Amino acid sequence: MNDDNNQSANRAHWSSTFGFIMAAAGSAVGLGNLWKFPYLVGQNGGSAFIVIYAILLVFIGVPLVIAEITIGRFGQLNPVGSYGLISPRLKWVGAMGLVTGFILLSFYPVVGGWILYYLYHSFVAFGENPDYAKIFTEYTSDPYWPCITLLIFSLMNYIIVALGVEKGIEKYSKIMMPALLVILIVVAIRTITLKNGLEGMRFIFQPDFTKVTGKTILDAVGQVFFSLSLGMGALMTYGSYLSKKDNLFKSSISIPFIDTIVALLATVAIMPAVFAFGFKPTAGPALIFITLPAVFDQMPMGSFISIIFFTLMLFAALTSSISMLEGLVSYITDKRHLNRFWATTLVSVVIFLLGIPCALSFGKLSNITIFSGKSIFDSMDFLASNILLPFGGIMLAICVGWIWDGGLRYETIIVRNQKGNPDVVTNGYVFNTCLKEITNHGTLNFPFMSAWIFIIKWVAPIVVFTIFIDNL
Ligand code: TRP
Repeated sequence: MNDDNNQSANRAHWSSTFGFIMAAAGSAVGLGNLWKFPYLVGQNGGSAFIVIYAILLVFIGVPLVIAEITIGRFGQLNPVGSYGLISPRLKWVGAMGLVTGFILLSFYPVVGGWILYYLYHSFVAFGENPDYAKIFTEYTSDPYWPCITLLIFSLMNYIIVALGVEKGIEKYSKIMMPALLVILIVVAIRTITLKNGLEGMRFIFQPDFTKVTGKTILDAVGQVFFSLSLGMGALMTYGSYLSKKDNLFKSSISIPFIDTIVALLATVAIMPAVFAFGFKPTAGPALIFITLPAVFDQMPMGSFISIIFFTLMLFAALTSSISMLEGLVSYITDKRHLNRFWATTLVSVVIFLLGIPCALSFGKLSNITIFSGKSIFDSMDFLASNILLPFGGIMLAICVGWIWDGGLRYETIIVRNQKGNPDVVTNGYVFNTCLKEITNHGTLNFPFMSAWIFIIKWVAPIVVFTIFIDNL
């Protein structure tokens, strides 16, 4: 019988800490790292963007990753259930995460489909002297192809999640993630050793702070949330399959670590090639689909590099979209409305249907705009990445910092002697449910605990809120 249908005590669990780390890092490492990060670096002044990103990552992203996984491991349930255990009045925060999941899944797999198309054409060339800008526009504006590739990608996504936590998600993440790292390193070595490759390295590592504007900081915060899979409850769901014996702090911090290494490696793998062949680093979203194929064409061993590069992109996109899907599926299976097979089937059909308008929004539906001139695809991306995820992050910080079991707080405890005079005065954090969860009831060390508490209570909500308002 499917183990997800049993009591939550017998709910599925990762078979090992390594399995959890590969799955959670797989969630984090995705198109955000390989596609968005390099083009954001290209558009926002090279390492100036990297520096700003790194600061926000360490001081906001990492603490929130710990907080999100803690709620999940505590609740051993889907996001709605876990938030509900903190307070029944907070269920809507989890529910909002589910809505975010549907929105993310409407556009993310569309790009997964593009990757499949380009992977196919790494084997079967596009023809003599291809014009990649034209090829990209023709393909994405076609009435059928984007939907067909979306369907194939969605099927892969579906199969892995339907197989379950251990036999699907964990098993495939343990294969795809290490493979991804190896491929990325091969591609990076190939491009750095190109003639003029070092010029690209100089661009990446010499900051140009004149390119930094308010928008750079907005982009960086959005990127931190998106890249770390923060704010919808995907990490919370993965955290809910963690064993109560695991070291939550250690497992959590390896996720942003791997995520950042991959984003930097991807930038290092892409930029030198762009420079070496005289392309512009500021191509934006088209960098991967228009600039890179042209670069591969001119590069020695280019078609081989193209095959492994798009394989890498496919793995990254899959391990991320399965985490979005699992968040939604876990809600239905926890409620025991349906078993895993039917829950996954139902959700997959719905998101495929939602994906079609996004897939067509570069062609047939390109004249439909939602937010101030944005296409359907861009609107979904904007709604999820710039509004719902940061808002989910603010709520996460408020819940953990201020609401859960009285909030994180400092107390002065005065022990009085028999005469009623203060005998011992100690200052300390109240060891509430949250801190007990992170430290396994005080048996594990929690490094930087005071800093973490300060960030969760004050820094994260205020900074993200300010940026969020600015965004609107
Ligand atoms: N982090 C992934 C990326 O960088 C995307 C992703 C997967 C995600 N799961 C998520 C983003 C949950 C937000 C919420 O491509």
